[in-house]
Amino acid sequence: MRGIILAGGTGSRLHPLTRVTNKHLLPVYDKPMIYHPLETLKSLGLKDILIVTGGESLGDMMNLLGSGTDQGIRLTYKIQDKARGIADALLCAEDYCRNDGKVAVILGDNIFDPLKFPSEVAKDNDAYIFLKEVQDPERFGVANFNEKNEIIGIEEKPKTPKSNFAVTGLYIYPSDVFEFIKTLQPSKRGELEITDVNNHYLKNKKLKAVKVEGHWSDAGTFPSLLRASLIKAGIANGSLYDEKVIDLIHKLNKTQ
Ligand code: G1P
Repeated sequence: MRGIILAGGTGSRLHPLTRVTNKHLLPVYDKPMIYHPLETLKSLGLKDILIVTGGESLGDMMNLLGSGTDQGIRLTYKIQDKARGIADALLCAEDYCRNDGKVAVILGDNIFDPLKFPSEVAKDNDAYIFLKEVQDPERFGVANFNEKNEIIGIEEKPKTPKSNFAVTGLYIYPSDVFEFIKTLQPSKRGELEITDVNNHYLKNKKLKAVKVEGHWSDAGTFPSLLRASLIKAGIANGSLYDEKVIDLIHKLNKTQ
């Protein structure tokens, strides 16, 4: 299985930090942000990894990460010409993934505690999403459940979320994902939405959901960027980080 890190976008919610710097190069605790999703993919056993980013950031990314040889992996880079959404960025990986089975995709601003893939991932031909209970679901894709606790739909940034389970930015897709993305229409915000991709697999009974045990944060807003650093600092120092600080950050996130 090949891995893709999506590291494009304008990072507008982090201006002025991102006016001249790609969001994924900003620090998250002790490393540039992109190191963390790279670590996640490496720890899941992936060795061939493509980084998709905007043309203006490609040189910086390559200078920072190089070929990957020193880390025992093979890195490849691809430009996304215009920021037209996550599914559009994934489409840039089509040639890279040709004939190589499933693909694992991670958003470059998603910070996870160490993770494990369920063992079926390598055996079936299904898509997987990874859910985490959060206090501010309206900022994310949100899973809706029926009484049997089965997912019946995913809503992108709902005003009144029907659950607290956010769809995190880690996805596994069968190789037909690229053909499906080509049929997608842009959403109201003009983007090809990854939530539409996930709902397609759900409709076809080919979507499995896994709950994430450890901590998770995105890092695309000021409060979540701070939270991501705290998560990594907690692990790095071997100390528990203070849940009260995290509650405060949630409150800040609600006001953004
Ligand atoms: C994106 C996805 C959303 C997902 C989130 C995870 O949102 O659209 O479904 O829950 O990543 O980080 P964005 O960060 O682009 O607002």
